[in-house]
Amino acid sequence: MEKHENVEYVMLSEEQIVARTKELAVQLDKLYEGRTPVVICVLKGSVLFFSELIRNMKTTLTIDFMSVSSYGSGTTSTGELKVKQDLSTDIKGRDVLIVEDIIDSGNTLYHLKKMLNQRLPSSVNIVTLLDKPERREVPMEPEYTGFVIEDEFVIGYGLDYAEEYRNLPYIGVLKRSVYEN
Ligand code: IMP
Ligand code: MG
Repeated sequence: MEKHENVEYVMLSEEQIVARTKELAVQLDKLYEGRTPVVICVLKGSVLFFSELIRNMKTTLTIDFMSVSSYGSGTTSTGELKVKQDLSTDIKGRDVLIVEDIIDSGNTLYHLKKMLNQRLPSSVNIVTLLDKPERREVPMEPEYTGFVIEDEFVIGYGLDYAEEYRNLPYIGVLKRSVYEN
């Protein structure tokens, strides 16, 4: 695969991502057998992984979208999470699967999971394409992980730097020269 000039190296190829996503879909089908989960795409970064995942799942499911941003570790008990776009589904009594692109500090998902739990779903699970456990600031263990990666800033397959590169079909490490000067 021809790589973008701002990519230092390709960390995960499209083939690797697709193969791993298929494995995750098999596991999730088993988990949700006989149930109808609502699968939530956390915009915007998850959009490619989400699409690949749901089209490989055979379980009957519904989908919804949400856009949030984290304020970091948060100094107040409320408002740690800014909801830019909320779900259109009532998740009370539903099995919720949150699909995330990457878990870094863990703040976003920690607060998102807490918020969704207040709506009384029957279960909440998290599947993330990437995990950078070294960077964790709050306890956050996803139930399903595509790849555990080193502490590098990655782009592509939905992930951005300054809103760009989301359309790269692979996960690449961004050249330091792009963000350091
Ligand atoms: P957390 O709240 O620190 O876990 O942040 C998660 C969010 O930060 C992700 O959903 C991404 O939007 C962003 N993020 C963290 N690491 C990276 C990266 O290496 N590349 C692109 N975005 C990242
Ligand atoms: Mg994101």
